[in-house]
Amino acid sequence: MTKLQNDRFLRALNREPVDVTPVWMMRQAGRYLPEYRATREKAGSFMDLCRNAELACEVTIQPLDRYPLDAAILFSDILTIPDAMGLGLSFNTGHGPKFDRPVRTAADVQNLPLPDPEGELQYVMNAVRTIRKELDGRVPLIGFSGSPWTLATYMVEGGGTKEFGKVKGMMFSEPALMHQLLDKLAQSVTTYLNGQIAAGAQAVMIFDTWGGVLTPRDYQAFSLKYMQQIVDGLTRENEGRKVPVILYTKGGGQWLDKMAATGADCLGVDWTIDLADARRITGDKIALQGNMDPCILYSTPQRIREEVGNVLASYGKGEGHVFNLGHGIHPGIDPENVAAFIDAVHALSGQYHA
Ligand code: CP3
Repeated sequence: MTKLQNDRFLRALNREPVDVTPVWMMRQAGRYLPEYRATREKAGSFMDLCRNAELACEVTIQPLDRYPLDAAILFSDILTIPDAMGLGLSFNTGHGPKFDRPVRTAADVQNLPLPDPEGELQYVMNAVRTIRKELDGRVPLIGFSGSPWTLATYMVEGGGTKEFGKVKGMMFSEPALMHQLLDKLAQSVTTYLNGQIAAGAQAVMIFDTWGGVLTPRDYQAFSLKYMQQIVDGLTRENEGRKVPVILYTKGGGQWLDKMAATGADCLGVDWTIDLADARRITGDKIALQGNMDPCILYSTPQRIREEVGNVLASYGKGEGHVFNLGHGIHPGIDPENVAAFIDAVHALSGQYHA
């Protein structure tokens, strides 16, 4: 196995010393990049792009060729699992994801198969293997999945939602059925992430995009419980190195203590909590990833640099910070502003490390 040339990201996740703060961006491969739009055009559709290992590898590496990012993230989507379960996924430009066969009844839940990572999802494993080979030790590769609760929201609603009426309707009126669905998803996510790790993912991240729409009690019972099940079932070491796990609940700032208790290595945090508070709440015992408001990237290089300084200062001195946006980068961002952002993190963070 090739030696990692840049292991800042893995070192920060393990709270080990680094020279400067590592940085990557959620959705770093995406529509804000003209080269991404060109490759997507060539692929046909978004899912065709995900299913083609060579093209998925190409778009994964595009942002790394532009910016000195400290990690690559597998190009794929969280909805590959429900797609492999037979729900019929499509992405229609401007309308987001859509499922032809949403999950609504007990029979729907009972009939869901548990997808095989080297079967229906082999295209994802192939993408991981291809990307690792192409990266050749340049930076570590992050694998990922959605959280069971977040996957369930799309599966029950049949697509994106602002109200969560159907999925919360099921949760409140048929909690046992919702638990059955979440348990199946937790099992599927565990084998899927372990498949990605076996294929070469060097860290994994669980995206709980919609955990923050729950009450504190329901968050624990319907989202965190199943992320805990996944963390307990993950391969934690591979190729003689620890495989760190990052948990990210958007809007989860008030539950960081409970998230930290899962045994994850790092918590992703959005911009609605100050990193100094996040660090205090978690007892400075777990790495933190975040948390600049992605909308800052609509401003100017000067304002971006100032905000990078604010975020670095709020984390303060010491190890365990991975710089990121608090959520994914928007498609309308100017790639020049991204350059200013990434450069500022490396230029301004040396003073926070011994
Ligand atoms: O971060 C990365 O660069 C890796 C790739 C990645 C994508 N989706 C690519 C993508 C990751 C990590 C995801 C995760 C994902 N997908 C999440 C969780 C992360 C989060 O943002 O909280 C969610 C909720 C999804 C579901 C999903 N997929 C949505 C809501 C959309 C947007 C639909 C739209 O039209 O904007 C997608 C599609 C998608 N996934 C795109 C990309 C680059 C855009 C597709 C395109 O090219 O048009």
